[in-house]
Amino acid sequence: MQVFLMNKDTKVMKLEFLEDKNLFSNVIQIKNIKYAPLSIYKAYQDNKNVLTEVNKWFKGRNIPIWRDDLFYLLKRLDVHAADELLMKSYALSLSDQYWVKPCKSKLEYKDINFFENDFGFSDFLDITFSGSYIKRKISLMTPNNTTDGRLKKTWVIENNKKILVKGGYKDNPTAPLNEYLASMICNALGINHVDYELDIINEKLVSKCEDFIDGNTEFITAHSILKDELIGNYREIYERYIKILEANGISDARDNLEDMLLLDYLIMNVDRHLNNFGIIRDVNTLKWISVAPIFDSGEAMNLEMLADDTMVINDNGRLFNEVVYFDKFLELIRKTRKYDLEKLDNVVDECESILKKYQDVSKMSDKDIYNLCYLLNLRIKKLKTNFRKCLITFDIHT
Ligand SMILES: Nc1ncnc2c1ncn2[C@@H]1O[C@H](COP(=O)(O)OP(=O)(O)O)[C@@H](O)[C@H]1O
Ligand SMILES: [Mg+2]
Repeated sequence: MQVFLMNKDTKVMKLEFLEDKNLFSNVIQIKNIKYAPLSIYKAYQDNKNVLTEVNKWFKGRNIPIWRDDLFYLLKRLDVHAADELLMKSYALSLSDQYWVKPCKSKLEYKDINFFENDFGFSDFLDITFSGSYIKRKISLMTPNNTTDGRLKKTWVIENNKKILVKGGYKDNPTAPLNEYLASMICNALGINHVDYELDIINEKLVSKCEDFIDGNTEFITAHSILKDELIGNYREIYERYIKILEANGISDARDNLEDMLLLDYLIMNVDRHLNNFGIIRDVNTLKWISVAPIFDSGEAMNLEMLADDTMVINDNGRLFNEVVYFDKFLELIRKTRKYDLEKLDNVVDECESILKKYQDVSKMSDKDIYNLCYLLNLRIKKLKTNFRKCLITFDIHT
């Protein structure tokens, strides 16, 4: 079947699509390549194989094979593999405006996109989080065919807003709780972030957040931006990343990245890989608008208690292509004076009250809660001490 790769109503290119294999076999005609996903545009510019890149991009739109309980989800949806789902909804997403349109189709973007049009979600939510089988046919015209990431998740509509519901890995409550904790810290310090709320579905804790993309924007991952440029150590790549963003008009890139480093230091986030941060681009003008608000901070505050009550923590986070000691994160933060760390003074108490509120569902013991709050307090104190040192050094030098 001949199809167009579309960005809203702009035709990016014409391709031959093999329906039985769910991949593209030929690029028939390039039309508006600038409107292609960034990774494809770069491949074109660098004279690389565009078809290979289109297929890579398309595969990356699948629910990944490492999705928690994917086997059960596919079984309940009555498909054999995640890639069978993509074309059931024209590969539409709620994180960007790309779609794949059969050349014969008269469809326009306004008729089908999920930013403007509602979609059924209750069955999908049910089979994702409740583990139940549903006899009737489930509608596959949904943005839930293209969600990324390891955690179970479902886009739903609440009060006319598109909301992403995310569970914990193997129903463990830590990821939703950490998302909430990250939001609390960001709110206290005035850091640009996606705000996560907590909720309970099927007696399990989940987090909920609003879509940070609208009908005129797209999320571009740091991975797409840095593709082929992940050379050198993490400091070099960090500076390169900032330079690229600044060159594309995001003048406050460094400040925003420093905010992210600060948060990740505090909660010891071990999962800030290159698909967990990025930028927002205007899909009409292709102008880079801003750094994306911080999201996906769930894999954090990992601690283990030994029999003799010693607390074991993982001191290493992730910075670009390297595993890096968390203390090194702070060396990258130049604007230490910007943060009013006194604002963190209530966060430990707030955290404790939230943990207590959801204790029946999370099944955390009093001791678990005490240990977590103890660790959070320790991190805040450590940050304050480190920043004080920075300020003294700074004052001596000026
Ligand atoms: N609030 C949001 N608005 C738009 N897109 C989002 C939002 N949250 C996540 N995404 C997209 O969904 C992907 C998966 O979400 P993420 O929170 O990273 O899940 P996981 O914890 O499973 O990795 C992200 O990489 C991003 O592309
Ligand atoms: Mg993620």
